[in-house]
Amino acid sequence: MYPAAIRTQELNPAKLTRLFRTQFERCNVKPGETIALISDLGTRREFVQSSFAAADELGADVYEMCVNSIPSWSKVGVPTIGRCKGTLEAAKQADLIVIFHVPLFSSWLKDVRDAGTRVLMIIDAPDDLEQLMSPEGLKEAVLHAHARLERAREIRVTSEAGTDFTYRCGDYPVMSQYGFAESPGRFDHWGAGHVHTFPNEGSANGRVVVQPGDMVILPYCRYVQDRVEIEVREGFITRIEGGLDAKLMDDWLAEAMADPDDRDPYAISHLGWGLNPQSRWHAMALNGDDPERNRASARTFPGNFLFSTGPNTQGGGTRKTRGHLDVPMRDCTVVLDGETVIERGKLVDPKMRVPREPR
Ligand SMILES: [Fe+2]
Repeated sequence: MYPAAIRTQELNPAKLTRLFRTQFERCNVKPGETIALISDLGTRREFVQSSFAAADELGADVYEMCVNSIPSWSKVGVPTIGRCKGTLEAAKQADLIVIFHVPLFSSWLKDVRDAGTRVLMIIDAPDDLEQLMSPEGLKEAVLHAHARLERAREIRVTSEAGTDFTYRCGDYPVMSQYGFAESPGRFDHWGAGHVHTFPNEGSANGRVVVQPGDMVILPYCRYVQDRVEIEVREGFITRIEGGLDAKLMDDWLAEAMADPDDRDPYAISHLGWGLNPQSRWHAMALNGDDPERNRASARTFPGNFLFSTGPNTQGGGTRKTRGHLDVPMRDCTVVLDGETVIERGKLVDPKMRVPREPR
């Protein structure tokens, strides 16, 4: 009998350094540059060792700064850099920061990027780093989607399940990731491949129907099992109805309310879609629901519409709430100013489609 809970890593651990070297090359690491590794108490030591070895091979200088915390997706915004004297100054001096936890929604990230430092986030398991590493053409596809989304003013999302949801955009910046940080100030995530922006305040309206097979990947890590109907009025969720999944979503948001009148957890947050052909919707069924196996993959599989709620400080807004849901949805049709870019969950703009590389 094999223990059911154990899934063996498929990547030969000895290949990890080569993988890091390839990734660092994509991040344009040059001899004489300084790489700062920002680790935490939960960081895989082999990631640090492979980073050291890869930096050595490329002639870069490298050191590790371990922060005194175990950050996680459900506790984003923790100021891991900047509390200790000198840490922010050191981070700004680095050419490349490699960070092993989520720095989103924290203020130091903006400071170091403004100083020109590139930032690469590594938060996925070794097998996924290998599988999801940015394939040929993904950068170009993401930049095309980025430019297309930047021009969009009115977006409509529909599905056969009953979603009919519209929003306007243009007030907040478009953000995109293609899996490596090669240019000054760029923040990216190894394994990524997606675009998003935030709706203009008050402009999101309609009904979002989440159906079985969609996911709630933050704060949970699960396929939705039953239909959830979400009513949105003027930028905020006004009703969540359904069974267990509806209760789980609502309970998380309700708990994040700072006071009985706080509606921020129910605000519509980043909205966008995935383009990484290396990511697969069925990965969570295949690999299990350990969050480390589902961070990049669940958010970036091609044609998913990523719905979310809560904070918008990452886009320059003022909502800081913890009430953040990330909900990748299948089978949606996404129309930008009358032009369909995703039809029933499939990317239809040929410039957004990238061939999958066998690995
Ligand atoms: Fe999110």
